[in-house]
Amino acid sequence: MSRANSQLKIAVLISGRGSNMQALANHVETPNASYQICLVAANKPADGLSIASDAGLSTALIDRKSYTSKQNHERALAEAIEASGANWICLAGYMSVLSADFIARFEGKIINIHPSLLPDYKGLHTHERALADSQKFHGVSVHLVTPVLDDGAVIAQMRLPVRSADTQESLSARVLVLEHILYPMVIGSLASGAVTLDAGQVCWQDISVANALSLPEDTTLIFG
Ligand code: GAR
Repeated sequence: MSRANSQLKIAVLISGRGSNMQALANHVETPNASYQICLVAANKPADGLSIASDAGLSTALIDRKSYTSKQNHERALAEAIEASGANWICLAGYMSVLSADFIARFEGKIINIHPSLLPDYKGLHTHERALADSQKFHGVSVHLVTPVLDDGAVIAQMRLPVRSADTQESLSARVLVLEHILYPMVIGSLASGAVTLDAGQVCWQDISVANALSLPEDTTLIFG
């Protein structure tokens, strides 16, 4: 029996340049596309919106500044997501902390990409902090979103060695390359059933998805 979830439809939430959204959209263009992007929504004017629109995706600017409260803003965002038919929400550089009410409305169906090896370096300035601590390794995590910031179960990570010559710019660029590989892989795995998330528990059923990836040298893929 196929475990594929051909109905995986995602809303991608962004706040800025949208390079992860673009990586997700690139996958949709491939013959083996395993999910659809129903909506790209931003909470502020964002370069990624025009990239999405040029790619033929539905977009929405639901500008926080147009709403008198966070609650009203999130209500409008939730309604737009529901109207789009999306059944998963993928945060891709969405730089606003979602409320517990919003997360409960889409319980277990929101994932995020975060540029660190969680649980290390939750929050902002992750590359700068990893360098300041002379970390040997750094990387990126895709995780389930819970009401506690950057705290939900890790689905998968990619790790790279920090080089002695790395600067914040070089390290963030090297991690970004991994982000663009990891996020489509994780969402594709949710679509195919290679990974399941039940009651906040991550269960990899099939890790052969890793075989199809072409990873930069010295990169390690870690299943959550
Ligand atoms: C990415 O590096 C993403 O991991 C990070 O913001 C950047 C967005 O870039 N997200 C977070 O820091 C969330 N805590 P993008 O707009 O080019 O995808």
